[in-house]
Amino acid sequence: MKTLTSVSLSGGQGKSTLVYFLSRLLALQGFKTLVLDLDPQHNISTFLRVIVNPDEASIFEFLKGETTIESIYPVPNLDNLFIIPADDGLEVANDFLAASGMGIIRLRNQLNKLSQTHLDFDFCLVDTPPQKSQLCMTGIGSSDYFVIPAEPEVKGVLSLNRTLSAVNEIVASGVVHTQLLAILPFRDKWFGLNRSIESAAAIEQMSKLVDSSFILPSFRESTIPKKAISTNSTLADLGKPDLAFPFEQLVTKLETLKDERHLSTVR
Ligand SMILES: Nc1ncnc2c1ncn2[C@@H]1O[C@H](COP(=O)(O)OP(=O)(O)O)[C@@H](O)[C@H]1O
Ligand SMILES: [Mg+2]
Repeated sequence: MKTLTSVSLSGGQGKSTLVYFLSRLLALQGFKTLVLDLDPQHNISTFLRVIVNPDEASIFEFLKGETTIESIYPVPNLDNLFIIPADDGLEVANDFLAASGMGIIRLRNQLNKLSQTHLDFDFCLVDTPPQKSQLCMTGIGSSDYFVIPAEPEVKGVLSLNRTLSAVNEIVASGVVHTQLLAILPFRDKWFGLNRSIESAAAIEQMSKLVDSSFILPSFRESTIPKKAISTNSTLADLGKPDLAFPFEQLVTKLETLKDERHLSTVR
């Protein structure tokens, strides 16, 4: 199982939207995919229509080690897609993780236990909250790779820079080995055939922060993604298959990683 964490220290940059479209695409292509919701606002659980009551197993019980497979719910009407959801009470998990000492590797340890059961997944996608909280840190600590969505505007570039520094700091601590997989310019503004001047300048700035090979084709600003989520449709169903291109590119990157793992096991 390869774990990919969607991370950005600012809200509204596209973390949950990215996990939503990527997870559905992976599942549609036949990859057994597990989504983890580490955000007390539980947007990705809501987007995927898995709402749990406080007395039901969720990500908090999974982190505590009280449950493993009992916390995993199938996403309705979609083969291959599963989620460990969050609920309203998740905020207290920050105190639990802080008190547990090695909170940063807590999720990774729990996922290792899961992969030793009969239930293994091809990919695990982790959605994180927008602050450098314990929940966010354990999400980064669990990952093999991370992806940062960022709006191509001044705030987005600043938030990308801050997020990259925060992850680098965590990696420098030595216990976490995650690697950057990609940056997704999110809500890229175009007017007809032209990209807005602000978007173009911001994407140029982004390519000064990371090698341009990490920058995905952008996710264009549109009202369709919100509609797709609320009506449980695909972007293609709503007549905008092109919008899915950045996520298709991410799937290609992830498939390459899977093949690499396969080759290294064969050798
Ligand atoms: N292509 C798009 N263009 C414009 N808005 C979008 C697009 N895709 C998603 N959104 C909206 O952007 C907002 C923020 O996205 P979200 O994924 O919730 O960010 P985060 O998880 O980082 O807080 C949501 O209201 C979502 O509906
Ligand atoms: Mg979110």
